[in-house]
Amino acid sequence: MATSHLPSNSMALLFISFFVLMFCMENAGAETRHYTFNILYHNVTRLCGTRTILSVNRRFPGPRLVAREGDRVIVKVVNHIANNVSIHWHGIRQLTTGWSDGPSYVTQCPIQTNQTYIYNFTITGQRGTLLWHAHISWLRATIYGPIIILPRRNESYPFQKPHKEVTIMFGEWFNVDPEAIISQALQTGGGPNVSDAYTINGLPGLLYNCSFKDTYKLKVKLGKTYLLRLINAALNDELFFAIANHTLTVVEGDAIYTKPFETDKLLITPGQTTNVLLKTKPEFPNASFLMAARPYFTGQGTFDNSTTVGILEYEHPLGHKTHSKNLTLIRPSLPPINATSFVANFTMKFRSLASVKFPANVPKNVDKKFFFTVGLGTSPCPQNTTCQGPNNSSKFAASINNVSFTLPSVAILQAYYYGKSNGVYTRDFPAQPLSPFNYTGTPPNNTNVINGTRTVVLAFNTSVEVVLQDTSILGAESHPLHLHGFNFFVVGKGFGNFDPNKDPAKFNHVDPMERNTVGVPSGGWLAIRFFADNPGVWLMHCHLDVHTSWGLKMAWIVLDGPGPNQKLKPPPSDLPQC
Ligand code: C2O
Repeated sequence: MATSHLPSNSMALLFISFFVLMFCMENAGAETRHYTFNILYHNVTRLCGTRTILSVNRRFPGPRLVAREGDRVIVKVVNHIANNVSIHWHGIRQLTTGWSDGPSYVTQCPIQTNQTYIYNFTITGQRGTLLWHAHISWLRATIYGPIIILPRRNESYPFQKPHKEVTIMFGEWFNVDPEAIISQALQTGGGPNVSDAYTINGLPGLLYNCSFKDTYKLKVKLGKTYLLRLINAALNDELFFAIANHTLTVVEGDAIYTKPFETDKLLITPGQTTNVLLKTKPEFPNASFLMAARPYFTGQGTFDNSTTVGILEYEHPLGHKTHSKNLTLIRPSLPPINATSFVANFTMKFRSLASVKFPANVPKNVDKKFFFTVGLGTSPCPQNTTCQGPNNSSKFAASINNVSFTLPSVAILQAYYYGKSNGVYTRDFPAQPLSPFNYTGTPPNNTNVINGTRTVVLAFNTSVEVVLQDTSILGAESHPLHLHGFNFFVVGKGFGNFDPNKDPAKFNHVDPMERNTVGVPSGGWLAIRFFADNPGVWLMHCHLDVHTSWGLKMAWIVLDGPGPNQKLKPPPSDLPQC
């Protein structure tokens, strides 16, 4: 066909069709997913009592957010409660969309009562399980839910296709309003009251009072493979998990594929997600199996020493009705509460898949090195008051490099973007401790922290190494550190004090685990590396909310890069005001 013979409007049509076609090919399969999250009051009965909780869409746990890699996600959050609120999409990279990251007073002012904010982001280069949760005070105790990122439409998992996928979300239940607990603790300076139960998909399970019916049940068929998406949304507790008489194969952590490895027990810290394959038995077992989670605890205070369970129930192959009541119920064994050596061995098994398709892009050369101590400390008791913190004469605090982070009253990202940092934040977060000491030895006499909203400013694409060193101030303790806006590689770890002369030689540059949350070993250290390839303001904090509340957090500011896709986008018009 000779196009020169076509009338000019047909030519135009042809052109338009061509561009439409090009556009569709560019975005092959990518979709936009719309969600509405209404923050509401919701009455929930657990452990023999009814309480009004805060929830999304009156669901507890909250609704699943499902998308494919490459999709755009638009979530309209409407605040119908009296509290201010914001939602964090934990682990989502938010490349150039820092305004949608969610931590209150860091990337946004919180959404006030009767206000709305639309989170808008694209899922780039991630697939697997993550979680969303409220990011202000302790509201995430009940405002949380799964994020499920499926591979692109014509792509598959790098492991056997599962018969079914199941989300198993751990949480913590409080019989009283968690906001009252943390506000009282911050006032008295003492440790906050602990939870009353752990939960699996919102249910405590039959080991707790009045909870026989509130037990999560997973019905399975014989000889199949199930993909369990494990998520720890608990507020303050790292958890051990196991299913009696079953071995699990870990295939992913924090939405990054791992080299598969088998284990019969695992550890999952708050903020972490772990995908495991569960192979069911080939023959009817004449038993049901408990899955159980209970804490890994290394601190010195009190903790919720209880166990949540669910039931793994086999369908009878001949369709016989079997009642778990009539079957033996087998309990799994879990590591002891303070099993730090189990934890060290287990976390060593995580290795990036590091395949051609899913490479481990570990920074080999480091532009900027940081040495951060993480741990507890004290604040003096205000005059003429009594305090319930250490020695009943001070308040609990927590810090990084002895700086206890104070949230400002406006959002740091806004202040940064509009060049109004004065009185909001400073750029002088210390790259190493100002007064070094024997971090895992005898603590110094003065354990008082200093307060501030201090940040580190990084040029775009700086390659960063951070050694995170636990301290023994008020007791060595494991700290699950979470970095917003990035994944990092865990290149090294050990017990005692980090030795800059000897330890780097042992770093793994080949297939270290890539994550967004990792436990700094109790009485030990950890080295992480990442490329600062995401412009914006990014919080890094302990994902035990009590430690975050005490100030165990800091923020990185990553400057714009030269390229068009290396700049922070302008703020959306509905960005909440403080
Ligand atoms: Cu899941 Cu800043 O947290």
